[in-house]
Amino acid sequence: MQKVTSVKALRDIVQQWKQQGLCIAFVPTMGNLHAGHIKLVTEAKKKADRIVVSIFVNPTQFGVGEDFKSYPRTEELDQELLNAASADLLFLPTVLEMYPQQSKTVVSVADLSQSHCGAHRVGHFDGVATVVAKLFNIVQPDLAVFGEKDFQQLLVIKQMVKDLNMAIDIIGVATERESDGLAMSSRNAYLSKQQRLVAVQMYLSLCKAKESVLSAEQGMSTTESQQQKCLENFGFKVDYFSICRNDNLQQATDTDEQIVILVAAKLGSTRLIDNICFNRNPTIN
Ligand code: PAJ
Repeated sequence: MQKVTSVKALRDIVQQWKQQGLCIAFVPTMGNLHAGHIKLVTEAKKKADRIVVSIFVNPTQFGVGEDFKSYPRTEELDQELLNAASADLLFLPTVLEMYPQQSKTVVSVADLSQSHCGAHRVGHFDGVATVVAKLFNIVQPDLAVFGEKDFQQLLVIKQMVKDLNMAIDIIGVATERESDGLAMSSRNAYLSKQQRLVAVQMYLSLCKAKESVLSAEQGMSTTESQQQKCLENFGFKVDYFSICRNDNLQQATDTDEQIVILVAAKLGSTRLIDNICFNRNPTIN
């Protein structure tokens, strides 16, 4: 695996590949890689000739008081994992390389960026959309791979690519989980042993809510508040527990079939998110 830190060096390599007619996939990350990230690389390898991975802890998507400074940085281990996964090129820019002068341009995907996590982390999705647009312009991949773990982020990126006519296929990959069901996340490392045991309740309440929606024995808002209360009883501070349409994150109604249930909650000072996506009428799948 080659490793570059400058935009120019990256462009030189990618340009050569393009001249050879190779298909290029891109996997953007913030590092501290785990099996979820590696699954994205593995999926990318099935679809492209060359895989570019970026590791960049993007300051513009962290709010005041969030964990930008303490975000786990594990560069050497990350490189070993990417080598083993046969990634071809690692882009490791500095903050100055990505934001050389005071930037004036922000990419903002209206509506989708304001609800759910966007309501609790104001400006977060503008930071994500802006850095991903910049990375797309730098790498110019044919396709890019994102995790469904960050479901709202995936929708924001898909909308941005559509609105800005970017010729990039966006591929979503199912969430990789620990053996008990907890979604893998770099932030799981912040959890104490006790919190780690409790953390799985988040996934379990998504599963219970899914069963409840499928059985249709009670209204969806009752299920939402029931599961929110359940998580609060386990000590979570819940930002939202929300049953939505999976195309636009509007509140789901009884006639909607493609459903995503989204949850975000804090355990101590660690903010976790997860979701579960399903069809209420499986015969259609
Ligand atoms: P990061 O949190 O490092 O995640 C990088 C990619 O890995 C994202 O597409 C995310 O959805 C995916 N991912 C994380 N955990 C996963 C899991 N358990 N299973 C499957 N995929 C998983 O998301 C970001 O970085 C940043 O916002 C970024 C897009 C890089 C922009 O800065």
